[in-house]
Amino acid sequence: MIVERLRLDGRTVIVAGAGGGGIGSHTARAVAEAGANVVAVDIVGAALDQIVADLTAEGYPITPLVADARTDEGVATIVGAAVSNYGGVHGLINIIGVAAPHTWCKAEDVTREVWREVMDVNLDYAMFLSIAVAKQMIAQGSGGSIVSLSSTSGIGASPFHSAYGVAKGGIVAMVRTLAVEWGIHGIRVNAIAPGTISTPRSGADVGDAERDRRGVPLGRRGTPADIASAALFLVSDLSSYVSGQCLPVDGGTSVKWAHLGDDSTPIFLTNPAILEQIHGPRTS
Ligand SMILES: NC(=O)c1ccc[n+]([C@@H]2O[C@H](COP(=O)([O-])OP(=O)(O)OC[C@H]3O[C@@H](n4cnc5c(N)ncnc54)[C@H](O)[C@@H]3O)[C@@H](O)[C@H]2O)c1
Repeated sequence: MIVERLRLDGRTVIVAGAGGGGIGSHTARAVAEAGANVVAVDIVGAALDQIVADLTAEGYPITPLVADARTDEGVATIVGAAVSNYGGVHGLINIIGVAAPHTWCKAEDVTREVWREVMDVNLDYAMFLSIAVAKQMIAQGSGGSIVSLSSTSGIGASPFHSAYGVAKGGIVAMVRTLAVEWGIHGIRVNAIAPGTISTPRSGADVGDAERDRRGVPLGRRGTPADIASAALFLVSDLSSYVSGQCLPVDGGTSVKWAHLGDDSTPIFLTNPAILEQIHGPRTS
């Protein structure tokens, strides 16, 4: 049955950035429910407590690991934990990413310090953790799947958040190149570009449901489970012929042209007869 391709039984998946109750925690749950051994990594130990307690209580194999994925030592610890606890690694999901308030500014005000900080935690770590995991997969001869979180800020413009947008655009470029280099080893490499998602730390809960209804083609803000579903698809054999791609998971926002009004009618369309044809007679 084709649905069996979603199962990850006997495989080990590293979820980097699994704490905090957001996209990472939901992704850790998704791969655990699909049968994987999970190595749940976060720099904040306490952030892992809830998801580790929940999944352990439900009988899923999960190894919590406190590590800084930006360092060589952290990367070695993460891959080492997968190998020593479960004998290898078959999947990596790079969730870690930070959009700290102090990194928002006009492009002309970006400092080298902020640029480096943003690149480190949004792009550089994903490259070096992917390399370490791919080396292990190549040594195992098993193939595998690597998924990294980009953003709609990385596939469109990212005004007043240029460093973040460039880092997330770098993720899209990274997966294309790594997919081509590592395809010969059976390693698939893909990205996900979330739109605005309500997570505990994104502040995305603060907002206007009416604005979401008008601005997002699907009429609502995204949830961590929306992104975890895409991650499960890409890490599993259900996506066995997909590599080098970035999948937007944004309710259709990235294809909504800026010249479309709130009701998705092109703003240049002013002919009353055409508007009536589309929307019916005006009631007010
Ligand atoms: N939430 C959104 O609206 C949204 C939109 C687009 C893209 N994204 C991307 O999705 C991903 C997850 O977003 P989220 O809102 O769930 O974030 P989050 O802050 O809830 O989760 C990220 C986790 O990474 C951990 N982390 C940070 N630095 C680390 C390090 N050096 N080593 C190990 N762990 C570290 C954090 O402690 C945190 O638990 C990010 O890459 C983010 O850029 C989010």
